[in-house]
Amino acid sequence: MLVTGDLIQDDSAGAYGRFRDLMLPLNLRMHCVPGNHDVRDLMREVCVRPPFSYCAYEEIRDWLLVGVDSCVRDDAGGRMSDEELDRLSDIVVHSQAKHVLVFLHHPPVPMGSRWLDTVGLGNGEEFLERLRTLNRVRAAVFGHVHQEYDREHSGIRIIATPSTCRQFKPRADTFAVDDKPPAYRRLVLRDDGAIETETVWVDT
Ligand SMILES: [Fe+2]
Repeated sequence: MLVTGDLIQDDSAGAYGRFRDLMLPLNLRMHCVPGNHDVRDLMREVCVRPPFSYCAYEEIRDWLLVGVDSCVRDDAGGRMSDEELDRLSDIVVHSQAKHVLVFLHHPPVPMGSRWLDTVGLGNGEEFLERLRTLNRVRAAVFGHVHQEYDREHSGIRIIATPSTCRQFKPRADTFAVDDKPPAYRRLVLRDDGAIETETVWVDT
């Protein structure tokens, strides 16, 4: 499972404990990256211990999955630091995997929503350029925008997953909540680098 940030809302260690307790029965490996609502130090305490991991990577067959930290302290918008870009490059360069999927919290491309596009990944184009130079990156998967998105940009799938809580109205000029239910996304990573994916809306 890829957990793409904003695990909690109230800055408390107890909330991370609740996340851990809710997730453990699923019996899955859970790769987590922080979002703007997370408190990195508190999140790390829970998410560095198996079955959780924090901004980590894993190779599965021909695929390498890498989690990167796009957060900026006290800022809803994100930015990929030079250190994080270089860490990503190092991981990819040292892997034999044929295909790479990167996951993060913030969208690296505009969503076409005036208010949301002020809190995206500030250096999204630089991030995408790095992905392109690594050659094997097939997709960047993220949260933050509370809506579906799945388009190709220069050969890389850019995929947003709706929230496991409330959704935002696509293309809204100002903050607006949608009436869609919580959701998660299934990703099937094929050996040839193709990705099959669907959003699963959870009827509550
Ligand atoms: Fe967020």
